[in-house]
Amino acid sequence: MPVERVLSLDEMQAAAESILSDRSRDYYAAGALDSYTREANRTAFHKCRLLPRVMRDVSSVSPQTTIFGQPSALPIYISPASNALLGHPEGELNLTRGAARTGLVQGISAASSFSLTDILDERDRLKEDESPYDLALAYQVYVQTERSRTEVLVKEAVERGVQALLLTADTNVLGCRETTDRIKGVTGNVSPGARMGPFTEYPAYHDAKQCWADLPWLKRLAGDIPIYLKGVCTIEDVRLARDHGLAGCILSNHGGRQLDQARTAFDSLRAIHDEDPELLKQIDIYIDGGIRRGTDVLLALAYGAKGVGLGRPFLWAQTAYGEQGVIRAVRIMESEIVMAMRLLGITRIDQINASMAECIQEVWR
Ligand code: FNR
Repeated sequence: MPVERVLSLDEMQAAAESILSDRSRDYYAAGALDSYTREANRTAFHKCRLLPRVMRDVSSVSPQTTIFGQPSALPIYISPASNALLGHPEGELNLTRGAARTGLVQGISAASSFSLTDILDERDRLKEDESPYDLALAYQVYVQTERSRTEVLVKEAVERGVQALLLTADTNVLGCRETTDRIKGVTGNVSPGARMGPFTEYPAYHDAKQCWADLPWLKRLAGDIPIYLKGVCTIEDVRLARDHGLAGCILSNHGGRQLDQARTAFDSLRAIHDEDPELLKQIDIYIDGGIRRGTDVLLALAYGAKGVGLGRPFLWAQTAYGEQGVIRAVRIMESEIVMAMRLLGITRIDQINASMAECIQEVWR
């Protein structure tokens, strides 16, 4: 199917899965244990409804905003996700090119198939192109058992001018994804990460000792670059992140790949909105997980998110069509977001607020 005939992110998934090997398809799709949380990430949005206002001039609409302090064409960003090479020979470079051409922020996984150096080189090369946007990058950090390895990577990211660091906090040990294990014939309980076998090697990537006391060390390395804590679920941890002087939190359950039965990011956001709305003014909150439609994005923004991340959709998009797939996925989201804004009766992202949504099912308590 030609790329321009793909009309939704679900169709993008279907296009990718029709060409992926079983192993790679399952690696991208995998959720932990029974995938309850992965599924709930999508259905969480079904519990709320939007409340459109009518009789307003919506002839001119701008979905522009800032993400991690950087200008962004849309209130979405590319969530850092590993092993893009499983889908396409150009792997993460497709994401870099697609983000540069559409004005999105790209999150770079610490477990990318291409090295950080390769991705930064590609960004520099694109700067010399006529790309209409300055590409902003957010480097995702795994605190490794061997801290000096993390230091080398963070120093490179900082020296070469990435705009933000995303410290992943929900992966002190790797979640149990049986589909991925089964393909590799792994059984039994092995050390954290050793399950990954032929994929990017993880063992050293996850230090079970990672804790709040590591933050001063990372902040020293980061200098002026803001740090966002990724993988937060509870209001208590958001408060701790604020108290530790972090720029923000990404409410996330790692696409349902870590703790099955963990609460969805959207429900965590609504819990904060209900219990302590002031907190949303004290620290920037982003969410990811299961976001596939422009209306999902607007619901998240209505409850106070600054922006949202999409993980699998961009892996699928680059799998199916390389850079063009990434651009198409962004265009699909752009048209859905702009359409939803118009139908809601708003013309700018900062007009979205909680009066535009209601919850019809309080199942999260
Ligand atoms: C991820 N995610 C992830 N997160 C992270 O901090 N570092 C990583 O290396 C990865 N790798 C990764 C691989 C794959 C295949 C997936 C699907 C996800 C999690 C990712 O950043 C994000 O939290 C989720 O993907 C969001 O959920 P959706 O959009 O995939 O539903």
